[in-house]
Amino acid sequence: MSTATVRILGLGGGLRVGSRSLTALKEALAFAEDQGAETRLIDLNEVELPLYRPDNATPAAYGAAAAPAIEELLDGLRWADSYLWASPSYHGSLSGAVKNALDYVQFLVRDTPSFLYGKTVGIISAGAGAIAAVNVVTQLTQVAHGLRAQVVPLAVPIVSAGKAFEDGQLTDTQVRERLNMLTTELVALARVQAERRLVTA
Ligand SMILES: Cc1cc2nc3c(=O)[nH]c(=O)nc-3n(C[C@H](O)[C@H](O)[C@H](O)COP(=O)(O)O)c2cc1C
Repeated sequence: MSTATVRILGLGGGLRVGSRSLTALKEALAFAEDQGAETRLIDLNEVELPLYRPDNATPAAYGAAAAPAIEELLDGLRWADSYLWASPSYHGSLSGAVKNALDYVQFLVRDTPSFLYGKTVGIISAGAGAIAAVNVVTQLTQVAHGLRAQVVPLAVPIVSAGKAFEDGQLTDTQVRERLNMLTTELVALARVQAERRLVTA
């Protein structure tokens, strides 16, 4: 029987007050905690990351003001057994802020194992229209695979997002149920990584 506590990092959100993708991400993290997982959140409103620059070999190279945010991100990425990524839909794709945050995974290239190998990503997106949020799931799946992570097959693209939220709260029960299903699968898959972490510690 496993004694490892599963660690889930939530990453993303839109850079605006009342971000729906952030609200959905927080709901999913709460479900993960209900299932016994330990969670952290990198809310991109609060963890202000500069644009990723390949020439900057260390977080310190970004300057004293920016380095702590980058360190927090890298520490969370390494700490977690698996991830929940949440992005708004902007012009048919994921937001630049979310993609920028994920580009920092390049700092994990020389980790053993490299990048996000062995970890799993659950994907959440929000879009006002009918298509872009689904595009975002595909795009983030491609990013996850590029970073050597696997993806939970069940994603939560929140299309027509204006109808799913009221006064900043998620009111759509089907979306909430799907977030719960995603999180259940994610925590189950993350347990494999948590046990591996325990063995190699
Ligand atoms: C610059 C911009 C571009 C957008 N482009 C799209 C789009 O292409 N398709 C869509 O469905 N919604 C689009 N939207 C609507 C947002 O996806 C929607 O408001 C969503 O809730 C944003 O995520 P957030 O609530 O987490 O900030 C756009 C919004 C902005 C601000």
